[in-house]
Amino acid sequence: MGKAVLVIKGGEVLDETGRRRADVAIGAEGDVVGVGADLDGNRVIDAGGCLVTPGLVDLHTHLRQPGREEAETVESGSRAAALGGYTAVVAMPNTEPAIDCASVVREVIELGAKALCDVTPAGAITRGRAGVELAPMAEMAALGVHLFTDDGAGVQDARLMRRAMEYATSLGVTLGQHCEDESLAAGGHMHEGEWSSRLGIPGIPALAEELMVWRDIALSRLTGAPVHFLHLSTAGSIELVRAAKAEGLAVTAEATPHHFTLTHAEVVGYDPLFKVNPPLRSVEDVVAVKAGLADGTIDAIATDHAPHAQETKEAPFDEAPPGMVGLETALALATTELGLPVEAVLTLLSWRPARIAGLAAEHGGPVAVGRPANLCVIDPTATWVVDPATSASRSRNNPFAGRTLTGRVRHTMLRGEPVVLDGEAQR
Ligand code: DOR
Repeated sequence: MGKAVLVIKGGEVLDETGRRRADVAIGAEGDVVGVGADLDGNRVIDAGGCLVTPGLVDLHTHLRQPGREEAETVESGSRAAALGGYTAVVAMPNTEPAIDCASVVREVIELGAKALCDVTPAGAITRGRAGVELAPMAEMAALGVHLFTDDGAGVQDARLMRRAMEYATSLGVTLGQHCEDESLAAGGHMHEGEWSSRLGIPGIPALAEELMVWRDIALSRLTGAPVHFLHLSTAGSIELVRAAKAEGLAVTAEATPHHFTLTHAEVVGYDPLFKVNPPLRSVEDVVAVKAGLADGTIDAIATDHAPHAQETKEAPFDEAPPGMVGLETALALATTELGLPVEAVLTLLSWRPARIAGLAAEHGGPVAVGRPANLCVIDPTATWVVDPATSASRSRNNPFAGRTLTGRVRHTMLRGEPVVLDGEAQR
């Protein structure tokens, strides 16, 4: 065993290969140098009663930099991510300016170099995310961008999306689609259904999402290109993805914690905290999202962490921007609400998203000698109450305030550096 500078002691290691009681020793280079019984090092970090797992990977984080630093920065968002157990996040490109060319990609990578987790930018599919002409994907791919998306909007033009898929195939990258047909969704502010009728708020039909899922499955069949479906929210979308996977198509999908925990009934008080896109859906949709997560139709849980400054969220429901924060609560919502074994929860939060993001060489485990020590230590029995006031995010738009959750991140290691210790960020 190489020399250990730090040992995580007394925990149970859990990764894709299974569970075992073991200490984890970390060397000066930030790699795992030993996994086994009774390891020693200069510094000991206690993991008694805890799970030592690969760090979580978020496929869908809005860090707002450049352009909206009052809501979040790469630094503040990465601190929230580390507190949530994440060692890597994919930063969405709907910044100002959009991440749609090499120079903005470089800027985000440079900001990420000082962050508390790895920050890997997603590039826009179209210039300015305007949906009109393709962005220079090759120059962004050359800088390591693996996921491309116009998130915040879907690519409406089917011909342009087909060309993006052909381009993506030649570059070996993946397209992420925000599935929303704008002609059907236009003017809507919540899910179209019983509650939109009662509240008199114009609705966004489930079909607005499902039409684009259907179209992009068909385009993936035509081109052979991989497509990743962002934040799926309806039973119909999940059924379409289930059938596409059975057919052997290269599709993957994610769902958010808010779409497996909250329904459109939350909008009853017209509180914009519950405004999000895609909108909170029906009970039947929540049941379908959970079933999709349980049977692997949905590959990953992604936060869609979408911080918004307080004053923007204090506007009337129809004027407020959509989105909710989620990095610090995703793991605990999954362990508390899904009714799945913790191995299955980590599959959805760590190793599967690491692969989709193209980050599996560094993140998502296994916890083994020679691998970078990007790790998370979780107390699966700790119970806590969500308090937005203590969040590391610059924004407070958290719809889970006051909720009691079970399962808490205790420590997070980024390449062997303890960035979170006993629930406290270290820088
Ligand atoms: O609710 C949302 N907020 N959905 C999106 O697609 C974008 C996001 C944001 O950037 O605020």
